[in-house]
Amino acid sequence: MKVAVVGATGLVGGVMLKVLEERKFPVDELLAVASERSAGKSVRFRGRDIAVIGIEAAIAAKPDLALFSAGGVTSLEWAPRFAEVGCTVIDNSSAWRMHADKKLVVPEVNGHVLIAEDRIIANPNCSTIQMVMALAPLHKAYGVQRVIVSTYQAVTGTGMKAVQQLENERKGINGDMAYPFPIDRNVIPRCDVFTDNGYTKEEMKLVVETQKILDPAIRVTATAVRVPVTGGHSEAVNVEFAKEFDLEDVRQMLRTAPGIVLRDDPAKDEYPMPLIAHDRDAVFVGRLRRDETQPRTLNLWIVADNLRKGAATNAVQIAELLVNKGLLRRSSALA
Ligand code: A2P
Repeated sequence: MKVAVVGATGLVGGVMLKVLEERKFPVDELLAVASERSAGKSVRFRGRDIAVIGIEAAIAAKPDLALFSAGGVTSLEWAPRFAEVGCTVIDNSSAWRMHADKKLVVPEVNGHVLIAEDRIIANPNCSTIQMVMALAPLHKAYGVQRVIVSTYQAVTGTGMKAVQQLENERKGINGDMAYPFPIDRNVIPRCDVFTDNGYTKEEMKLVVETQKILDPAIRVTATAVRVPVTGGHSEAVNVEFAKEFDLEDVRQMLRTAPGIVLRDDPAKDEYPMPLIAHDRDAVFVGRLRRDETQPRTLNLWIVADNLRKGAATNAVQIAELLVNKGLLRRSSALA
């Protein structure tokens, strides 16, 4: 299969290459795509250097599949151009997520919605993916009514410039700033830009994407915060159910849910943390306890590697699902 990674020189693009390789995705030819700024650069894939090409050259090569992680503007303009040549696009940006005719997919949760006609498929926001992974089995059992979530998001979620800012600050170097404030020894209660209602775009993504993936009736309210952690997003989540639950049943459900690792043994100091989730594909859940202030309400703590399950791994899992279900058209075979 001919596979393009658009944004191959970026943080998520780099992890996409790694995940494609690790999971032995059937790549016959890899197209590493970036902006004109990267002309002359190469990326490593399966032990070889692959020269980076521009986006027009990639379209001309008619890939079967394109994994996009090059920002919303690039996706809005270019994903339809790839689709026009018969390519299936899996897009990690927010550009297409809320379009009524585009699917927003976490394979373990709603992979069944995919059909062969889907040409542009959206990968949800990193914070949404890990939250709906844990909520999905509980929603099925008890009916999630309302969610209050506070996030503790790592700087890799912003991109390379933010990682550089944190490293510079730790070394006492004055460099380019990805955030309007220092991030080391600080927390910034703003992820992405503010919207008219006073919430940030990241907070509203948690609301609308959870509703699109799980159930439009679920009420979600969010506070998204950037913390001086290099990689791995954490979330404190308060969930109110329609039905009464048993805490041990909840633990058992999460233990057996695909893609979830339960780490919930306070006596042994076992709970999820970014350092534990680092470079792993699972979503880690722990600190399960009843909210003692109201009935049918649970508190939990959810952590995942935002570049892997929150982005690259989820995108590659969507691609695997398409292949396994025979839903991926081979445009190169047709040409
Ligand atoms: P480049 O390295 O050439 O700028 P990150 O979010 O980690 O900063 O990565 C963004 C990725 O998206 C990079 O690979 C970047 O390429 C790529 N990118 C940005 N704009 C475009 C564009 N117009 N066309 C193709 N790739 C782009």
